[in-house]
Amino acid sequence: MEKDILSQMQREWDERAKENARYYVNTERENWDDADFFASGERTVAEEILTDMINICQGKKPEEMRVLEIGCGAGRITRALAGLFGEVHAVDVSGEMVKQAKAALKDRPNAHVYQNNGMDLSVVPNLEFDFAFSMIVFQHIPSREVIWNYVREVNRLLGPGRLFKFQVQGDTSIEHKPGDTWLGIPFSDEDAVAMGEGCGFEPRYRHGAGKQYFWLWFFKNPA
Ligand SMILES: C[S@@+](CC[C@H](N)C(=O)[O-])C[C@H]1O[C@@H](n2cnc3c(N)ncnc32)[C@H](O)[C@@H]1O
Repeated sequence: MEKDILSQMQREWDERAKENARYYVNTERENWDDADFFASGERTVAEEILTDMINICQGKKPEEMRVLEIGCGAGRITRALAGLFGEVHAVDVSGEMVKQAKAALKDRPNAHVYQNNGMDLSVVPNLEFDFAFSMIVFQHIPSREVIWNYVREVNRLLGPGRLFKFQVQGDTSIEHKPGDTWLGIPFSDEDAVAMGEGCGFEPRYRHGAGKQYFWLWFFKNPA
């Protein structure tokens, strides 16, 4: 794995976080107040999670579930996840984002946030997870190898049959430049299927191929 790209992601996301973390997390606004910023996370959970509880929970009660989030930023979605699920563990490559997420979650003792190295989940306790989620994160990662590695890492931590629901950049016409940590590497439908199957998942559902919001439902293969 290229070490340079990991330190570049960390450095550039720290810079963005110091300049205006909430804007770079959700570019709909430049000046987010607490209420609106966290309401946008609640909306994301309402749209992407509450509409999909059969796949996500698979019969388990949300309050009994342990969930994982990759690229938590300033805690926008993490806070809403912690209001719904029993335990939330989240990672982000940027120490500055992690600092802001921890502040946003100080009244949510069931949420745990870690700074990671930008490519694996070795900082997360080696526990079995019931669900994993990531949105507006892989679309920024310039390396296919890093994204594959995350998918393998999620597979390591998820229970058999459990879901990793996440979004990648699906617009393959974008001009991705090597090393660009804003406009990351795109995935075609074939790329997505190859990644799922290559990392121990059934890539059961895919929605939005060809668009920025290309959503993938990867179910971990049974034991
Ligand atoms: C646009 S923000 C979105 C944050 C959050 N997912 C949300 O929707 O509120 C992208 C986040 O991904 C993080 N990130 C970028 N590359 C990463 C990597 N390789 N590993 C972990 N986090 C990464 C950034 O630090 C940033 O916090």
